[in-house]
Amino acid sequence: MQRTVQNELEDIRNRGLLRSTRLVSGSQAARVTCNNRDVLLLCSNNYLGLADHPVLAAASIAAIQQYGTSSGASRLVSGTMELHERLEHAVASFKKSEAALLFNSGYAANTGIIPALVGRGDVVFSDRINHASIVDGILLSGARLVRYPHNDYRQLALLMEKHAKGRSLIVSDGVFSMDGDIAPLAELVDLKRKHAALLMIDDAHGCGVLGAQGRGSAELLGVGSDVDIQMGTFGKALGSFGAYVAVSAELRELLINRARSFIFSTSLPPSVLAASHAAIELVQTAEGDRLREQLSANTRFFRSSLAEAGFNIPPGSTQIVPIVIGSTITTMQFSEALLSEGLFVQGIRPPTVPVGTSRLRFTLMSSHTHNDLVGAVERISRIGHTLGVV
Ligand SMILES: Cc1ncc(COP(=O)(O)O)c(C=O)c1O
Repeated sequence: MQRTVQNELEDIRNRGLLRSTRLVSGSQAARVTCNNRDVLLLCSNNYLGLADHPVLAAASIAAIQQYGTSSGASRLVSGTMELHERLEHAVASFKKSEAALLFNSGYAANTGIIPALVGRGDVVFSDRINHASIVDGILLSGARLVRYPHNDYRQLALLMEKHAKGRSLIVSDGVFSMDGDIAPLAELVDLKRKHAALLMIDDAHGCGVLGAQGRGSAELLGVGSDVDIQMGTFGKALGSFGAYVAVSAELRELLINRARSFIFSTSLPPSVLAASHAAIELVQTAEGDRLREQLSANTRFFRSSLAEAGFNIPPGSTQIVPIVIGSTITTMQFSEALLSEGLFVQGIRPPTVPVGTSRLRFTLMSSHTHNDLVGAVERISRIGHTLGVV
C-alpha cells in the first residue's frame, strides 16, 4: 500500500510519538501563560533570563534604527556588516581564541562545520548521545561515523586504535542537551593528541553558564586552548539567536570557503547581532556572576530535592535536570498532569533520546525563585507517586 501523509501521521500517533507545539504568551520568563493559565516555565533554555533583559532589548532596537532589519544576503555576497565583525571579535576575545565565525543557528553551524572539515575516507568519532545537528553534519559529510558509548573515553580509545585512519575528528556535546552531564574533555584532548585528530565541542548548553565568566565547559575543565573547534549558540543562556565557532584564523578561513550553511544563507540580521553582542558583554560582568550564582543555587536545590524524593536522575551538576522514566506513555501523562497543575515541562521521547529512556527534561533559570521551585518539587513528587514513577 502506498504510504500517504495520513498513514504516516497515524503511525506516529499510534506509537505515542506525535509532536505538536504549545502556544505560550509573553516572553520566556519564569512564568508564562499556556493554555490560558499562568504556569511556571521549566523547559526553556533561557538559563540566565537574558531573553527579556532590557540591555539586550535596547541594543537590538538601536541596531535596527541604525542598520535596518536585514543583512540583505550571505556575507560573501553583500558584505560583512560592522556588527558581524564586532561580534566575532567579542566572541574570540571571550573564548580566548584566535578567531571566530558566526553561523545562523547551532543547527546550521554543526551541519556546516563538520562537512567542511571531513569527507569521504575520513572518520568521525561521535558520542552516542550527541545532538541531532551533529549527527546530521556527520551524515552530510560522507565521512565514516564511529559512535562511542556515552562519555566512555576508554571505549573511545579502543575504537580510535582500531579505526583512526586518514583524517579523524572527535566530536562531543560539552554539556549533553538531554542528560545535563559534561563531557570528559581532558581525556578527549589526550586522545586527540595521541591520534593527531581534531577535537570539536558543541557548547550550546555550557556557554554563558559554565567556567569563569561563563566561557563554557572547556574553560571549566581547564582545556580551553586545547579544543580545536569550540562551537556555541546565542539562543540559550545568551538570550539571543544564532551560533558561533571559536577557532584558529586558518580554520576560520577554511570554513568561510567550505561551510555551505555559511556560504549559501542570508547572514544574521542587525537586531540579533546587537543582542548577542550585549549578552557576551553582560555575562562577563558582576551581573553575569550574580545570575550564574542564582542559577547554580536553583540547580543544587532542585537536583537534591528530586533525588531525595526518590526520582531517577542521572548524575550531573548542570541546569539541565532529567527525570528518566522509560515509558513514553507515562512520560507524556506526567507532563500533561504537571501542566494541569501549573508546571510547564516537556516530555522527551525517541528519536530525541534512545528508545526506553523517555524522560521529563527540566531546565532551570536564574529567574526562578526559591518558592517557585519548592512548589514545583511538591507537585512533581505528588504526581510522580500517583503515576508510580517513584
Ligand atoms: C547541543 C546542541 N547543539 C546544537 C543545537 C542547535 O542550536 P540552535 O537551536 O541554535 O539551532 C542545540 C539546540 O537546539 C543543542 O542542544
